[in-house]
Parts: sequence; C-alpha cells; structure tokens
Amino acid sequence: MEIDLYERIWMWAATALIVVFLGAIILTTGAEAIEPPSHVETIDPATISTHPEFATPKVVQRPDGSIVVPVVTAMFAFSPSPIEVPSNVPVTFRITSVDVIHGFQIAGTNANAMSIPGYVSQFTITFPKIGEYQIVCNEYCGLLHHMMSGKLIVK
Ligand code: CUA
Repeated sequence: MEIDLYERIWMWAATALIVVFLGAIILTTGAEAIEPPSHVETIDPATISTHPEFATPKVVQRPDGSIVVPVVTAMFAFSPSPIEVPSNVPVTFRITSVDVIHGFQIAGTNANAMSIPGYVSQFTITFPKIGEYQIVCNEYCGLLHHMMSGKLIVK
C-alpha cells in the first residue's frame, strides 16, 4: 500500500502526540501531581442550611494541628471568604454546592476540584508559601460565573 509522505508524517505526528499525552498522565500520576477522585461522600443539598458542618462553614483545627476547611459554593460566591490558613500545615478542603456545579481552584497551586450538589469533594494540600491566593470558579455556573471568586490567605 502506497502512503503519501505527508500522510505518513501526520500519522507519526499524531502517534507521537498520543504517546506524549499518555506519558504525561502516567508521569504526573506517579509524581502524585494529579490524583483521581477517590473520596465519595453524599450530602442532601436541601439540608445544607441546617448542616452542622456546612450551615456556617468555618476553618477548624484538628487536635493533631491539621486544618479542615468546609466550603459551600453557591451562585456566585464561596463561603467562607476569605479563608485563612497557616502555612506548612496539611489543609483538608471539604467542598459542596447548594445549587449547581461550581469549580474550586486556588490559582497558582494545584488545588482544583469540582463542587457538585449532592456530593462532598475533598482533598488535602499543604501551602509552603505565605501570601494571598485567588480562588476561582472554573465551571460555568450562570450569568455571573466570571464574577465568582474568593480569597485564600496563607499566614
Ligand atoms: Cu460558580 Cu462558575
């Protein structure tokens, strides 16, 4: 079978791209830079206003010194905001939504999760650098999606 030179170049280029993309996934998974979602916890969005953890979400310190931050997303704000946490301490974010799907991304870090009504998204991260970080919603959630942002202060 005769394959045109350009056709062959594109075939090899496409194959190389697939190898690079798969390699990037394997590499970043191995380096724990990305983690598949493994935490499954359900919550009734209708009960959030009376929920002991999420009704008035605030930063909590565990007896071992680590920090837990419950976060509620709603059109078009994060609560609590600003969030204040210490540096170099494991911080566990527990995020849920009262209305639609939102995003919870801390700009400049690899903290990034979806906030889905009915579920609690959870991840733990340590912030080595003191400073202020912007929290952005990266899932289109309505007319004022672009206005939805919060602040994280690492002290
Ligand atoms: Cu919330 Cu976009």
